[in-house]
Amino acid sequence: MDYTKIFDFTDKVVLVSGASRGIGEAAVKAFAANGADVIVSSRDQDTCEKVATSIRDAGGKATAKAAHAGIMDDITALFDWISETYGRLDVLVNCGGTNPYYGPAGKTPEAAFDKTMDVNFKGPFYMSSAAVKLMKGTGGAIVNIASIDGITPGHFRGIYSATKAAMINMTKAFAKEYGHQGIRVNAICPGLVETKMTSGFRQDPKAYDAMVKTIPVGFAGQPDDIVSGILLFAADASHYVTGQALVIDGGSAV
Ligand SMILES: NC(=O)c1ccc[n+]([C@@H]2O[C@H](COP(=O)([O-])OP(=O)(O)OC[C@H]3O[C@@H](n4cnc5c(N)ncnc54)[C@H](OP(=O)(O)O)[C@@H]3O)[C@@H](O)[C@H]2O)c1
Repeated sequence: MDYTKIFDFTDKVVLVSGASRGIGEAAVKAFAANGADVIVSSRDQDTCEKVATSIRDAGGKATAKAAHAGIMDDITALFDWISETYGRLDVLVNCGGTNPYYGPAGKTPEAAFDKTMDVNFKGPFYMSSAAVKLMKGTGGAIVNIASIDGITPGHFRGIYSATKAAMINMTKAFAKEYGHQGIRVNAICPGLVETKMTSGFRQDPKAYDAMVKTIPVGFAGQPDDIVSGILLFAADASHYVTGQALVIDGGSAV
């Protein structure tokens, strides 16, 4: 084995959904910095173009293609475009996610239930289905960004937590069925990470400080803290790793 290449992504085609900001943006930048040809995707084409341009300006390879993770036609169009443009896909990172409702599980509005299911579960499920089709013959890796809430439900995050639990289960299902085709499927379960999704927590600084103090490492995660796990699972270094869910949470769930 060439040990200098186990984390090398040179000329690998990598699609990251939810790459316009936060964890997904950090991930596409890290993949590009390690040689990958990245596809930046989320809902808004202009925002994706800005991230892709910043990667190209830094000497990397990137294109942008918008797709709403909860709309089936968008997913089909995205994968048709990848097929026509690149003719292959080596890595899919399902990172796009939403959490529109914070409150008692029993009072979840149906619209919030449907949106959370569509974006956090149905979209990643069908993106994975399209990805394994494109990876057939060459193999590849899928990394699903779930959450520690998918292991133990977060307070007032019932439907969000349920979609992340479904994502962890789906990770194992795809891993079992597609391992023989050289396709590995793993999940990352982040704890608290400071992104737009968690900005609501920071509106009450005192309560937020108290929350952060409960994290064993004593600080909240940043998007870059999650990138190491994403690249680890996507890399050839994880050749024998599939169906796993890695918790990256500063020790919160210990
Ligand atoms: N932050 C945390 O503490 C934490 C903890 C555990 C798990 N996670 C998971 O990590 C992932 C990334 O979240 P983040 O923390 O980086 O939050 P973020 O900064 O708010 O980013 C969310 C990303 O998802 C995209 N997105 C939202 N709705 C979408 C849709 N319908 N179709 C396609 N893309 C969509 C957003 O892009 P546009 O709005 O531009 O479309 C954005 O790029 C999510 O799956 C989240 O559940 C986060």
